[in-house]
Amino acid sequence: MIEFFTRKEFAEAADFIRSHTEHEPTIGLILGTGLNPLAEEVQRANVIPYRDIPHFPVSTVEGHVGQLVIGELEGQEVLIMQGRAHYYEGYSPQHICLPIRVMQLLGINILIVTNAAGGLNPAFKAGDLMLITDHINLIGMAGLNPLRGPDDPELGPRFPEMSQAYDLELREMALQVADDLGFPLHQGVYICLAGPSFETPADLKFLRIIGADAVGMSTVPEVTVARHAGMRVLGISGISNVAIIEPTEERKATHEEVLEAGKLLVPKLTALLKGVVSLLANGGL
Ligand code: HPA
Repeated sequence: MIEFFTRKEFAEAADFIRSHTEHEPTIGLILGTGLNPLAEEVQRANVIPYRDIPHFPVSTVEGHVGQLVIGELEGQEVLIMQGRAHYYEGYSPQHICLPIRVMQLLGINILIVTNAAGGLNPAFKAGDLMLITDHINLIGMAGLNPLRGPDDPELGPRFPEMSQAYDLELREMALQVADDLGFPLHQGVYICLAGPSFETPADLKFLRIIGADAVGMSTVPEVTVARHAGMRVLGISGISNVAIIEPTEERKATHEEVLEAGKLLVPKLTALLKGVVSLLANGGL
């Protein structure tokens, strides 16, 4: 297993993808757990399974299809990842983010990330959407930062700044689209844990106290690399379950519940992302 990937491996994956598509996308989307169906709306799609792409991490989790869908959405060329790999599956943080480096080499400059997350903010219900305004890189602080390793200045700076990881203009577009569609879009801070175990009640209290509104096991590594690569980022969490600080036999977080809520979230998320891509196609707000 390669410990640190380099531009050579990123380029091998990017060349493979280039040779399997006629499109030149500039927008990348990552669809999280249970959020796959948006990719079915892509026109003139080229579909590439992750297992065929050199070095690509393959997701082993139910709810992750594991393929790239490259084509047109709202008249805009996009590259969609239907599913992602996670740290808890055994991949290194850098390996999880290899697809972001590949996007960088392919010329993608806007990344839209989605995930299923547990709601910590008491105003959130399962089935709600949250616009990510900032994140807490809990796993990164503890040492699992995907930028750890040999420095390659061609890819980005050694010490990238993260003061506005989630692009203000893209956030304004998402809020405008949600308003036009007539559903609420919460705003808040996403916190990334390593997983795969869900949180204890004491964990949840701690996460809330330190300022998180939603908790999950993804997104932050990819956003860290995307910002390092100079991409503009939009992040949306689908609230698939709410934090249960006082658990009972009937009330506890399960993966089935996360997949069930995905079905509720998908129509809203699909409409929101199509609206944002359409705005981008027309030059923004
Ligand atoms: N905790 C952590 N990750 C999650 C959750 C949760 O409650 N829901 C979906 N992903």
